Amino acid sequence: MESALTARDRVGVQDFVLLENFTSEAAFIENLRKRFKENLIYTYIGSVLVSVNPYKELEIYTKQNMERYRGVSFYEVSPHLYAIADNSYRSLRTERKDQCILISGESGAGKTEATKKILQYYAVTCPASQQVETVKDRLLQSNPVLEAFGNAKTLRNDNSSRFGKYMDVQFDYRGAPVGGHILNYLLEKSRVVHQNHGERNFHIFYQLLEGGEEDLLRRLGLEKNPQQYHYLVKGHCARVSSINDKNEWKIMRRALSVIGFNDSEVEDLLSIVASVLHLGNVQFAADEQGNAQVTTENQIKYLARLLAVDGSVLRDALIHKKIIAKGEELVSPLNLEQAAYARDALAKAVYGRTFSWLVNKVNKSLAYKEEKFPGWRSTTVLGLLDIYGFEVFQHNSFEQFCINYCNEKLQQLFIELTLKSEQEEYESEGIAWEPVQYFNNKIICDLVEEKFKGIISILDEECLRPGDATDTTFLEKLEETVKNHPHFLTHKLADQKTRKSLGREEFRLSHYAGDVTYSVAGFLDKNNDLLFRNLKETMCNSENPIINQCFDRTELTDKKRPETAATQFKNSLSKLMEILMSKEPSYIRCMKPNDAKQADRFDEVLIRHQVKYLGLMENLRVRRAGFAYRRKYEVFLQRYKSLCPETWPTWDGRPYDGVAVLVKHLGYKPEEYKMGRTKIFIRFPKTLFATEDALEVRKQSLATKMQATWRGFYRRKKFLTMKHSAITIQSWWRGTLGRRKAAKRKWAVETIRRFIKGFIYRNHPRCPENEYFLDYIRFSFLMNLKRNLPKNVLDKSWPTPPPSLCELLRRLCMQNMVWTYCKRISPEWKQQLEQKVIASEIFKGKKDNYPQSVPRLFINTRLGREEINTKVLQALENEALKYAVPVVKYDRRGYKARARQLLLTQSSAIVVEDSKIKQRIDYSNLTGISVSSLSDNLFVLHVHCEDNKQKGDVVLQSDHVIETLTKTAILANKINNININQGSIKFTAGQGKEGIIDFISGSELLIAKAKNGHLTVVAPRLNSR
Ligand SMILES: Nc1ncnc2c1ncn2[C@@H]1O[C@H](COP(=O)(O)OP(=O)(O)OP(=O)(O)O)[C@@H](O)[C@H]1O
Ligand SMILES: [Mg+2]
Repeated sequence: MESALTARDRVGVQDFVLLENFTSEAAFIENLRKRFKENLIYTYIGSVLVSVNPYKELEIYTKQNMERYRGVSFYEVSPHLYAIADNSYRSLRTERKDQCILISGESGAGKTEATKKILQYYAVTCPASQQVETVKDRLLQSNPVLEAFGNAKTLRNDNSSRFGKYMDVQFDYRGAPVGGHILNYLLEKSRVVHQNHGERNFHIFYQLLEGGEEDLLRRLGLEKNPQQYHYLVKGHCARVSSINDKNEWKIMRRALSVIGFNDSEVEDLLSIVASVLHLGNVQFAADEQGNAQVTTENQIKYLARLLAVDGSVLRDALIHKKIIAKGEELVSPLNLEQAAYARDALAKAVYGRTFSWLVNKVNKSLAYKEEKFPGWRSTTVLGLLDIYGFEVFQHNSFEQFCINYCNEKLQQLFIELTLKSEQEEYESEGIAWEPVQYFNNKIICDLVEEKFKGIISILDEECLRPGDATDTTFLEKLEETVKNHPHFLTHKLADQKTRKSLGREEFRLSHYAGDVTYSVAGFLDKNNDLLFRNLKETMCNSENPIINQCFDRTELTDKKRPETAATQFKNSLSKLMEILMSKEPSYIRCMKPNDAKQADRFDEVLIRHQVKYLGLMENLRVRRAGFAYRRKYEVFLQRYKSLCPETWPTWDGRPYDGVAVLVKHLGYKPEEYKMGRTKIFIRFPKTLFATEDALEVRKQSLATKMQATWRGFYRRKKFLTMKHSAITIQSWWRGTLGRRKAAKRKWAVETIRRFIKGFIYRNHPRCPENEYFLDYIRFSFLMNLKRNLPKNVLDKSWPTPPPSLCELLRRLCMQNMVWTYCKRISPEWKQQLEQKVIASEIFKGKKDNYPQSVPRLFINTRLGREEINTKVLQALENEALKYAVPVVKYDRRGYKARARQLLLTQSSAIVVEDSKIKQRIDYSNLTGISVSSLSDNLFVLHVHCEDNKQKGDVVLQSDHVIETLTKTAILANKINNININQGSIKFTAGQGKEGIIDFISGSELLIAKAKNGHLTVVAPRLNSR
């Protein structure tokens, strides 16, 4: 961090009273230079603000910056005009005392800018309301209008105010701006008709020509080109790159509307502006008698229309002079020079009076309609004075004389008020007043304004006296009257040496700020400011409402001579002084750093000149007469209390005692300070700087300590918050868990209780006591069943159902499985199963080898067509072969075994031996089929024997006896005709003979004819039996 001391080296002190070497002009300028280099354009001399025009935009006028200065003590923030503005505003509010801010400085030093910035500051920071917004707008917008009519480009400033301005802003009891009033001083009217090289006429003329709509210009009879107008070309710089007239025109037009001008008023006003331009173009030529005649009729026509006067009357008035002597009117013609003078005088008068009218109009729009209560003033006033500073040119004339006189008056006021306030402060603080040596400029003011003996009086006298009064006679009169005055000098009065620097037509005044030499040329004319009577009359008859108000008829009848310009100015100044005296003043002293309007250029010679003419050194001397620094005890203690262990961190006693302890601890020597009633006064800046430096060091350690304490506090606070949060969350969560657990337990208890009750009542009909239990049992049975449903129709497993559930479910399940199974079955398989079922019906439990046949599938046929002789097939041509199987046929007599084929058709069973059909048994003849109950494969087809064709029953053996018989029984529809016999079977062997087959069980199959002539079949015993 940059220490306060090194910073001070770099940027200087922010208050000149803290300059060690306060009497040195060089030190003063050096301090200004350092600060200017760092873009610090503001510096105080106590409560006076010195401002150096930066000629560039600085980032110090932002809204944030305005907020920074709002309500903050003067010394807490860096110097700024906002601090001055805020300080005045606060005094106005708290003490309800009128304030004024006096802004002075050379042309181009930044006075008008400062005024605008102060107004903006109030517009932003003061309380607002709908009505206040309108006033704020009007206050701000009065600037572009007055600047358009009252400002012009000069060599020193592109926007130079050519009039003095004092503006009152009224604030109501809440501190809101509610109204305003403007006083204008000494408009430089001569500019209307003449401009020096490089300068322009008032902005409004150029704005109108550049920005005015074509229609408007046509109505006003104007051309866009400023070169066309004599009053605009004198300075040879109608157009300047740094000024955008078109844009300014728009701003000015908008401002006129905000202020409350209606369209016709604007038109009237602009008609006057145009009429001045036309007047400038009125030309004269001399007739034979040398009398002036108007040569530009066209201009007269326009003028008549624009000024709403009779053209011929105007023409005559321009070339004649009317005098009233002893009640008689005398009209005499004018020569060329006089006519031009009259014309210019008219232009100046018209413009000057219109400007005053404009100020009045603005005032009406700003006027606050105060509710008046006796003895109570509802508003307080803050005045802003933006007035020309000292002017010292190569040639100084009447205007500079007036301006410099004004500055003398302001300086007088300043000295009086500053000294007075200093003295008052010392007095009120009980500190002995040490007289200050200063230059009292009253002597110069008197020289100018004193009755009878003063310069103005002499000038007036010279203007009024009959006879041939000239500027020279005026100078002579002056020399005569004030020759002994120490501040007055002329060529004649000067000594040999100084005489060289003075012309014969000049006089020199030693102003408080320095010597200025004035040329008397034009003094009388300018002071007289004469407008010939007939021109006045013409104007009084104008139907242009503004002109009509500007030229009052009473002027014509008034016998008294009008006041001269100087007297008018003197009187208005004295009024201004009264106004300012009644208020608490603040000062802003503006300076310009160079003549080239350039940024970052600090011209020391120019600055020194201004320091001198603004009387800043004098200022500083007065301010530093006694003590460099003073502060209220509270403020001082508050700032430095950390430097003393007894006052840090708090001092409980009176601030006075606290400061006494503090300065003792700091080791102040008695001559270095004084204790007033409410303030401490420090004599030398170095004492204060030492204290400041000590504070800077102390701040470091304090900051570290505060940082540590704060961090600790902050962390602990954070920890405690977190802890508290954790506990809250924890207890909430525990509560939730506990409640959940309790609810669960309660539920469990109820469930168990219901369960036990249900169990006890389980055999009762459904009732509230057991319904839960029963439902539960049913539910758990169903859930169990869902998991353990039988997988297929053969799976007979089934969970034990609760008593309330009958077998219905099981049946349904089985039906469903069967149904599903059946739906999936193919026709072939169906047939197979049907056959199997039939086989089962026939054989199951009746024949020993039936069980072995069950797993073996029945086959459509055991013999393919290729295995059957074609002849047989041919013989069967019409009959479809349903089944064929190789069989063994036993002869009916000898029981000889012979290999045969058994073919089954739709209508008969056929026994075939190779190609021969050995026997065809129509099913209608098949009376039955016999088979043993044992495991043999023998069977007998019983045939109806009445038919001789039939050979008798057929004894056959098939390896697939069950299959063969089942198929035969189905085809022949003899299912119920199959006899399963035990022991033996009788059969018919043809022609009434009978055979017997005996069946016995044995170890292995044996078929043989027994001795008794029977066929004995030994069937092997099967394990399954
Ligand atoms: N604070 C500022 N910041 C930036 N530029 C500034 C500032 N003050 C003044 N200027 C510049 O300087 C110019 C002249 O300022 P301003 O018109 O206020 O001078 P003035 O003192 O009113 O002169 P005059 O007596 O001729 O009216 C401005 O147009 C602007 O360009
Ligand atoms: Mg100005």
